[in-house]
Amino acid sequence: MQDDIIRRAAELREQLHEHIYRYNVLSSPIVSDAEYDRLYNELRELEAEYPELITPDSPTQRAGSDLSEDFAKVRHPGPILSLSNAYSVEDLQAWEERNLKLLPAGTELTYTLEPKLDGLTIVLTYENGLLVQGATRGNGEIGDDVTPNVRTIRAIPLRIPVDKSKGEAPERLVVRGEVMYLKQDFERLNQRQIEQELPTFINARNAASGALKQKDSRVTATRPLTAFIYGIVDSRGLALDKQWDILEFLRDMGFQVAPESAFYPTLSDIIQQIPTWESRRNQLEYEIDGVVIKVNDLGIVRELGVVGKDPRGAVAYKFAAQEASTRLESVSFNVGRTGRVVPNANLQPVFIGGVTVSSATLHNFDFVRNLDIRVGDTVVVKRSGDVIPYVVGPIVEARTGDEQPIHPPERCPFCDTPIMQDEGAVDYYCPNVYCPERVYRQADFFVSRGAMDLDGVGGQTIKLLIEQGIIKDEADLFSVTREQLLELEGFAEKKADNFLAGIEAAKNRPLAQVITALGIDGVGSTIATALANALGSIDAIEAASVEEIDAIEGIGDVLAQNIHDWFADPYHHGVLEKLRAAGVRMQGEARVVAGDQLAGMTFVLTGTLPTLTRDEAAALIEAHGGKVTSSVSKKTSYVLMGDSPGSKADKARQLGVPIIGEDDLRRLVRAAETSQ
Ligand code: IVH
Repeated sequence: MQDDIIRRAAELREQLHEHIYRYNVLSSPIVSDAEYDRLYNELRELEAEYPELITPDSPTQRAGSDLSEDFAKVRHPGPILSLSNAYSVEDLQAWEERNLKLLPAGTELTYTLEPKLDGLTIVLTYENGLLVQGATRGNGEIGDDVTPNVRTIRAIPLRIPVDKSKGEAPERLVVRGEVMYLKQDFERLNQRQIEQELPTFINARNAASGALKQKDSRVTATRPLTAFIYGIVDSRGLALDKQWDILEFLRDMGFQVAPESAFYPTLSDIIQQIPTWESRRNQLEYEIDGVVIKVNDLGIVRELGVVGKDPRGAVAYKFAAQEASTRLESVSFNVGRTGRVVPNANLQPVFIGGVTVSSATLHNFDFVRNLDIRVGDTVVVKRSGDVIPYVVGPIVEARTGDEQPIHPPERCPFCDTPIMQDEGAVDYYCPNVYCPERVYRQADFFVSRGAMDLDGVGGQTIKLLIEQGIIKDEADLFSVTREQLLELEGFAEKKADNFLAGIEAAKNRPLAQVITALGIDGVGSTIATALANALGSIDAIEAASVEEIDAIEGIGDVLAQNIHDWFADPYHHGVLEKLRAAGVRMQGEARVVAGDQLAGMTFVLTGTLPTLTRDEAAALIEAHGGKVTSSVSKKTSYVLMGDSPGSKADKARQLGVPIIGEDDLRRLVRAAETSQ
């Protein structure tokens, strides 16, 4: 055998020993689970090919143990088993086929489908309804006695049943579940760590493990841990023979059972559910790394038996890992359309959930500072669903001392303008509205779907047009000529015609789309629609006061000010002028107008009207030329008051604004009609 193979096996053994110790004893790993699995599998494959390489202390020769020296030891009443893994539908089908072969012909299997909770196993013993012991899995036979710590977890009942009307607790009950953090509690915990200038936790599972294995239970008590229970290890005075009945019984006793757990009559039903689970994964309150499929009939589970430490009657269908650790090689800076500078991590390429990731966002400089992320760090990177990959944080334990701090750039990497930061603000920005990168990002957004929806105008074309000095902002797209296009690289007649046809069509977009396309911070399509409906044209929005914008449903103070400032900016004014000159429609569609009897009048609504809803009253006012705003000022013509009015009625009295009722409003509309 070659020396390098022997050397590699020794190296892998050594690395794995260190990782196992860090993971299980210190709760502070320096590699991701996926990276660990990669090393472990490499060693296992080497050993399979060259069995003479196997040493008695090889990590492949033992089941994992997480026993620590800090706790008394307890023997579990039965083995705390693990699960074999499946990674594909074929694996699941093969699992069922293998099982059916071991069972009498004609056996039909039904199943439960449960989330595979990403926490750590806990074994809880209740005697006559009282919690008497909480233990970790340990090596599966013997665990650490962490009872005082377990008692601090609110989701774990100290006495069962929690609701006495749900029957009686069995004489003895040993249950098994998972201790973990809910995602939002974990985020809050990290927020608290930042506020107290303490290091943040990178991985929720390891943090939960560290919290449960504290020597001082007062520390555990400060951690917002929770626990989900999914099985019975041992009992006296209880006879349940279905997993689904067990879950219901546990729920009745007052344990927290994952509400998404479900019963299915066949494996095909389960297989159909898997895509739903993959996509709901990111919406769940807790982290899962797969689903667990269990044969429902516990008599059959017993009959099927165990291979090593894995029962045949259950299997874990593992999802692709969403996290990996890798080296942060350098940082570059992106500049967005509003000028915001966003630090971006250039990573040593790493495979996460089916794709190679070599770049991830670092969010903002506060994030970098709070987490003390440095160039050269080993960082944990997460890629979940459609979200762009982001750096979760550094693995501080893996530092060598050569890491370099990350500073915001002094000048914009695209236009060399000095970078600014507003007082008290988190973000740094490039203040140059002509910065080619800002213009590019804004124009690229302007043409995108949901904005101006400009077919035939892509990012590459925009880049070329900016580089050639043909456009200085997105509005200039409307004055690009055929001749200019034909001179661009890669442009032939057809492409130029498509471009020009797209531009022509875009002149007639609905007002809400035009407003969206302007790229005002905080104004997406919903707010743009509200602005378009309430004010009806770009001119009216430009002329509106902050109060008028604020009065629009769904727009708060800060956003109203922001929108107002945007329109007051001379640069934006110039863009709007060009759009107008190019013939872009800047008005809403014609509204239903019943008359102009209320023209020039402003109404504020308060309380419940006798027959009209607020929307109907507002529509009646607007259809007759009036305006509805949300706050009372001296300029308010009338306050329209119904039952249980709010403070707006008091304000009207203070300012001497007339208060009217629904009948008065109808009279105002009618009186004007008859006088015409
Ligand atoms: S059942 C014999 N159900 O996954 C029963 N385990 O990879 C074996 N886990 O050690 C466990 N959610 O810590 C079961 N709904 C669930 C689970 C679950 C998470 C963990 C458990 C186990 C590991 C195996």
